[in-house]
Amino acid sequence: MALKILSVVGARPNFMKIAAIYDAIKEFNQLSLREEIRHVLVHTGQHYDANMSDFFFNDLELPKPDLFLGVGSASHSEQTAKIMERFEGVLQNERPRIVIVVGDVNSTLACALVTKKTWCPGVDEGESYIPSLAHVEAGLRSFDRSMPEEINRIVTDSVSDYLFTTEESANRNLVREGVPQKKIHFVGNVMIDTLLRHRSKAKESTILSDLQLSNGAGAKSFAILTLHRPSNVDDKDTFSRMLEAFLEISKCMPVIFPAHPRTLKRIQEADLSDYFVDHFMEGPEPWDSRVRIRLIPPLGYLDFLSLMSEAKVVLTDSGGIQEETTILGVPCITLRESTERPVTLEDGTNVLAGSDPQRIVNEFNKVSHSKMKGHSSSPRYWDGNAAKRILKVLFDEFCPERSIRIPHWKAETKSNEFSQS
Ligand code: UD1
Repeated sequence: MALKILSVVGARPNFMKIAAIYDAIKEFNQLSLREEIRHVLVHTGQHYDANMSDFFFNDLELPKPDLFLGVGSASHSEQTAKIMERFEGVLQNERPRIVIVVGDVNSTLACALVTKKTWCPGVDEGESYIPSLAHVEAGLRSFDRSMPEEINRIVTDSVSDYLFTTEESANRNLVREGVPQKKIHFVGNVMIDTLLRHRSKAKESTILSDLQLSNGAGAKSFAILTLHRPSNVDDKDTFSRMLEAFLEISKCMPVIFPAHPRTLKRIQEADLSDYFVDHFMEGPEPWDSRVRIRLIPPLGYLDFLSLMSEAKVVLTDSGGIQEETTILGVPCITLRESTERPVTLEDGTNVLAGSDPQRIVNEFNKVSHSKMKGHSSSPRYWDGNAAKRILKVLFDEFCPERSIRIPHWKAETKSNEFSQS
């Protein structure tokens, strides 16, 4: 009988992570010449706008979700509760052996809790059971408990059976928190699997010329800004002081801002629209006469990857973009005081600038005066094979008699090498 795995997506950063796992399952079934793994994809509907969700399914060639829970926006508690309520029935009907959750969004937390509290009826009148829970991107810690994502990470890790990590700091964090080493599997980064797989396709995107950011000789110098964290955009004073810094930067090069819906709302509520021009409505040229931040709608995966690859610098408060710029070798100025992804500071192109305008401008000046692209080396296991390592661990554990013997599918993880230092 096929091993049944159910995976959960909910919000934008989940789609590229699950895409890697979906692709690996497809490849594994093809190589096995039968459906060894039966995959069920559940979308909670936390993100529901076309440009926050549907475009990603097209770009990543993800199939339509098998089940859509349609929860939409609400307060954190209400959103989490709605997902929990709806996911419980799904789990009892679907009866997977394993549930995979990724990242740190509310959908991750909600489905993790439900998985570990739900008894599923046994298959073929077998005994009822609680499915196993696998958390992909486990162990990351910002040590800032005012971030909802940090709470989601800590709670999800604490109930997970398989903790798949992306970097050494995550292994150390989990060991320090008392997670048994045998549960920790250092497999690498599934988001980078997806980036590497789609990089050449992203080159076909026309976004640079659509935004008039290229000329015959190649891309012009431009910066990308993404900003949506409550700590940056919810307080009008903090947000407007940061906007002053971006205005300063826009005197040197266009600042292109694909704005998240929650940020757009804050701009309207706080009456901050004077800082911006609508890039499409007001025309991309001439840059100099309209020194403002250039708003565009959120982009699909391939367009954003294409834009990011050619940017002179990326300014962001996102988690995943810190990792993507590291692999692309593009300088990243992170608009937060801490990062749960320290490997991007050590091996990558990332620097922390917080929300202080002077620090942001100083970091920008350093980057823009450098002739070179950012320097980085790939962190360990960020090599395009993380999802395969995850499947190898799970399949060997649940189907030891049919253990995978396919070249390149070797899990190189040794949990006993993790130390607390
Ligand atoms: C969520 C994640 C965050 C991730 C981000 C990426 C949590 C706690 N946070 O934050 O980790 O970095 O997604 O995008 O899960 N909205 C829309 N359309 C949509 C989605 C959201 O208009 O398709 C608006 C809603 O009005 C909502 C607001 O955006 O009030 C926030 O959405 P929500 O899903 O609660 O969290 P994000 O801020 O997007």
